[in-house]
Amino acid sequence: MLKAIYPGSFDPVTNGHLDIIERASKLVDTLVVAVLENPNKSSSLFTVDERKEHLRMVTKHLGNVEISSFKGLLVEFANEIDAKVVIRGLRAVTDFESEFQMALINRSLNTSVETFFISTSVEYLYLSSSMVKEVAMFGGNIVDMIPAEIKDFVLDKYKK
Ligand code: PNS
Repeated sequence: MLKAIYPGSFDPVTNGHLDIIERASKLVDTLVVAVLENPNKSSSLFTVDERKEHLRMVTKHLGNVEISSFKGLLVEFANEIDAKVVIRGLRAVTDFESEFQMALINRSLNTSVETFFISTSVEYLYLSSSMVKEVAMFGGNIVDMIPAEIKDFVLDKYKK
C-alpha cells in the first residue's frame, strides 16, 4: 500500500493543484493532501480549516484522497501517518531550485521518505495561488484559474 503526501499552503487551491492531485491520486493507494499550519503566514487569505474545506469540496470525486493539515516538519508528519512519498508539482525552471533544495533537506532529515515531482500541465504553467489573489484583488477574471466551487469564496474576500 503506497501512501503519499501532497503538502502545500493551498491559499487558495488552484486548478494547477487540482490537476496534480488528480494525477497523483491515480499513482498511489492513498493521497493525503496536507495543509501547512504555518505560524509565520499571518497574511493568509483563508484559515487552515477553510482551506481544508475547499480541498474537501474539490476532491470529493476522488475516493482515495484524504485532506489533513500538519504543523512543524513535513517528514515528521510523514512518519506519523506512515507515508513514504512526498508529491510536489513542478512548473517552470524557477521552481526547480527551491523544490530540489526542499527535497534534499527532507531527505537529509528522513531517508525513508522520497520526493516525487510531477510536471505541471502546460495550461497551468503560469498559475500560482499568489497570482490568483493578485488578479482577484484587482478585479480580474479568475474563472479559469481555480475550481468553480471556490471562486465565490475568493471573490467574497475582496468585496469587503
Ligand atoms: O505550497 P507551498 O507554500 O509551496 O508549500 C510549502 C511546504 C508546505 C510544502 C513547505 O513549506 C513545508 O513542507 N513546510 C513544512 C516545514 C518543513 O518540513 N521544512 C523543511 C523542508 S523545507
